[in-house]
Amino acid sequence: MTNAKLRTFSGIQPTGQLHLGNYLGAIRNWVQTQAKYDNYFCVVDLHAITAPHDPAELRAATRAVAALYLACGVDLDYATVFVQSHVPAHSQLAWLLMTQTPLNWLESMTQYKEKSLRQGENVGAGLLNYPALMAADILLYQPHGVPVGADQKEHIEVTRDLARRFNDRYGPTFRLPEPWIQPEGARVMSLTDGTKKMSKSDPSDLSRISLLDTPKEIEKKIKRAKTDPQLGLSLDLDRPESTNLLTIYALLTHQEPSQVAAEFATSGYGPFKARLSEAAINFLAPMQTRYRELTQEVGYLETVLKTGAERARVVAHQTLTIASHNLGLLPPT
Ligand code: TYM
Repeated sequence: MTNAKLRTFSGIQPTGQLHLGNYLGAIRNWVQTQAKYDNYFCVVDLHAITAPHDPAELRAATRAVAALYLACGVDLDYATVFVQSHVPAHSQLAWLLMTQTPLNWLESMTQYKEKSLRQGENVGAGLLNYPALMAADILLYQPHGVPVGADQKEHIEVTRDLARRFNDRYGPTFRLPEPWIQPEGARVMSLTDGTKKMSKSDPSDLSRISLLDTPKEIEKKIKRAKTDPQLGLSLDLDRPESTNLLTIYALLTHQEPSQVAAEFATSGYGPFKARLSEAAINFLAPMQTRYRELTQEVGYLETVLKTGAERARVVAHQTLTIASHNLGLLPPT
């Protein structure tokens, strides 16, 4: 019975192309455990508009991310897949939560500090209030766990703090969710700098392997990936590039990183990179085929997203009603 299962909620922003970091840090874990849980996987388009964007690209990316969830193995028997803006309760609860959020919590968030430095005068209030919207996303579904990569931990901590504060002030309303972060793949690093995480917003396309990259692109990016002058690869804090490439290889070939490190302990980067390219290409090929199939099927994705939004709206509305009531808002008649 679905009702007896623990619930999960997670989401990805449709900004740019999804990459191996998104897959290994998040989607892979969703898929691995999905049968055990009642899952809500959302494409968080309202978050994507907190940065300067192109409307046509956003529409295309929103569809592409939803299709990639399915192509990566998210199973609709276990998961509700939907677009955030199709469930208005996300914006509505975000406002309610914003009124309860101390400004200094928002100003001290790492993401806000970093992005506001980068975006300069383009920083909008949406970027500052991002954590309240993310808290709303999560809390609406009363999930037990939020499966994400390591970079989202701070956001889930704020979500918990906000839920606790709201419950203390207005009575039990929200479940406090746990961050579910798998140690392997939680922080996949950039190919061009092993000390920075792989990111959709890195200006260099060479820094990441996108899930829809062609074999040629993958080969080129891995060939150009930063290395160090030492012979032989190892898992070593002082060797971020070697550690990152070995870890990616291990995850793509379903092996232990230590096993892979032993195999390449005396290998040069050249032969290792050839193996890594082959592994990445083989790993992504079936997913890319599924992606093409399901995006070519006219109307399929629309139906999935329509059904998903309908189901999500029911759950989200229940929580929004309780939160509104507890805050003292008069119910509509
Ligand atoms: P986003 O879109 O940046 O990333 C989506 C997921 O991918 C993980 N991830 C990584 N994991 C490992 N290595 C990396 N280099 C890497 N880069 C990204 C992220 O940890 C995340 O799990 N704020 C969120 C979106 C969001 C959300 C939510 C997530 C909005 N509301 C509610 C969970 C629950 C974000 O920007 O993720």
